[in-house]
Amino acid sequence: MSKHQYPAGPKGYPFLGVLPMLRADALGFLERAAAEYGDFFPLRIFMSNSFLLNHPAHVEHVLQTNYRNYRKSPMAQKLKPILGNGLFLSEGELWTRQRKLIAPSFFRQRVDAMSGVMAQVINEHAAKWSARAETQEEFSLSEDMSCLTLEVALRTMFGNSLSESEGEEFSRALVVGNEVGAERIWNLTPITEIIPTARNREYNRAVETLDSTVWRIIRERRAAPDLGDDLLGILIGARDAETNEAMSDQQLRDEVLSLLLAGHDTTAVMLSWAFHFLAQHPTCLENLRDEADTVLAGCDPTPDHLKKMDYTKRVTQEVARMRPSLWWFARVAQEDDVICGQPIKAGTTVMISQYLIHHHPSIWEEPKLFNPDRFLPERVAKRPKFAYLPFSAGPRVCIGSGFAVMEMQMVLATLLRAFDVTITSDDEPELAPIITLRPKDDITARVKPRLRH
Ligand code: HEM
Repeated sequence: MSKHQYPAGPKGYPFLGVLPMLRADALGFLERAAAEYGDFFPLRIFMSNSFLLNHPAHVEHVLQTNYRNYRKSPMAQKLKPILGNGLFLSEGELWTRQRKLIAPSFFRQRVDAMSGVMAQVINEHAAKWSARAETQEEFSLSEDMSCLTLEVALRTMFGNSLSESEGEEFSRALVVGNEVGAERIWNLTPITEIIPTARNREYNRAVETLDSTVWRIIRERRAAPDLGDDLLGILIGARDAETNEAMSDQQLRDEVLSLLLAGHDTTAVMLSWAFHFLAQHPTCLENLRDEADTVLAGCDPTPDHLKKMDYTKRVTQEVARMRPSLWWFARVAQEDDVICGQPIKAGTTVMISQYLIHHHPSIWEEPKLFNPDRFLPERVAKRPKFAYLPFSAGPRVCIGSGFAVMEMQMVLATLLRAFDVTITSDDEPELAPIITLRPKDDITARVKPRLRH
């Protein structure tokens, strides 16, 4: 039998392949390679053979049609000390069981029920913005959004179980966990992670803080007369539909930290991009504010309001297209497969970039242009379903997407109806895509009370 001829792909260095290019500028390198080599091309990374897939039909195959054949790549295991065997990293039977157990906690009604806590946290944050407005100080919007989404995540998860100082310590630990996870992602060997450098020691301390806090709260909650109506209480009370079994404490710890880590930075990064794009597109900002003024009529946003706030939702959708927080992923084929006529051997890694698919010139008109109206229903209907995947797709789709969209709508509506935001950082910030698609330098801003025309 003749050997299959794969399309050409970028040449790499001997031994390391394209790893140095990915390390130096992953996004730019992949963008240029896709422009030159098309929708399917090989990538040699260190000793392994990978393919970049850049067509909705490929996405559908890997994430939906034959998803059981594709497992997360060993790179994702870098996050294991924090995420453990939680939903984000688990596979096979464990994942199937846990997903079934946790999914009801994120059903529409449950998420809607969290809106009250969210509104309260956002209002408290608006009060901090009022203080900033008085001093006219310039501040890091990136950091500010990270604090806000962490507070939302912690309060919806733990209610009031963390004191202010514990909350601050826990938040710092999560941020360090996130940063170091990102720094380690392209490491070839774990040796540099074991050496007791200051950064590694800081990371180990962060994991200890996260661990000890979550264990303590779980213990206290189990001993309390009622489980509480926050997410932790719901997770403790969750039972397997077939066996009626609850989660072990270890599994609970892993799920809690997975939800916190997967949920907060992703949402924060996207929110700061939203402010950035809206500042550059005054008409979009005005449309969003008109909607907030009309629908909310001065009240705090509730789920019923949000259902009527189509424009605000379209803004979040367009931000998620332009800057998908999780911008690429890799999966390893477990058995031989064929994707759109191309044989994929067992053990091969396939990579898909949400960013590349979201900017594919044959799918999106003027892909670099910010335009929320791309998400008008009649325009969505004309696009392939798998051309848009900020929350991934298929059975492993983000479990928190409803939560994240609700949070983003509420934050934008609440803050922008009350404040004028001037972005003081670069108009075209350089991207620093590692795990999340963040700008290289923080987005900075000044705020003042909204001036109504
Ligand atoms: C804008 C915000 C968010 C974005 C862009 C986002 C994106 C994603 C993506 C792309 C995946 C798939 C990852 C993969 O398969 O490799 C994912 C999975 C996941 N996300 Fe999100 N996410 C966001 C917010 C949240 C929130 C708020 C939560 C929790 C409250 C959350 C919890 C999770 C979990 C647990 C998974 C793993 C699901 C599974 O494999 O079954 N995410 N998210």
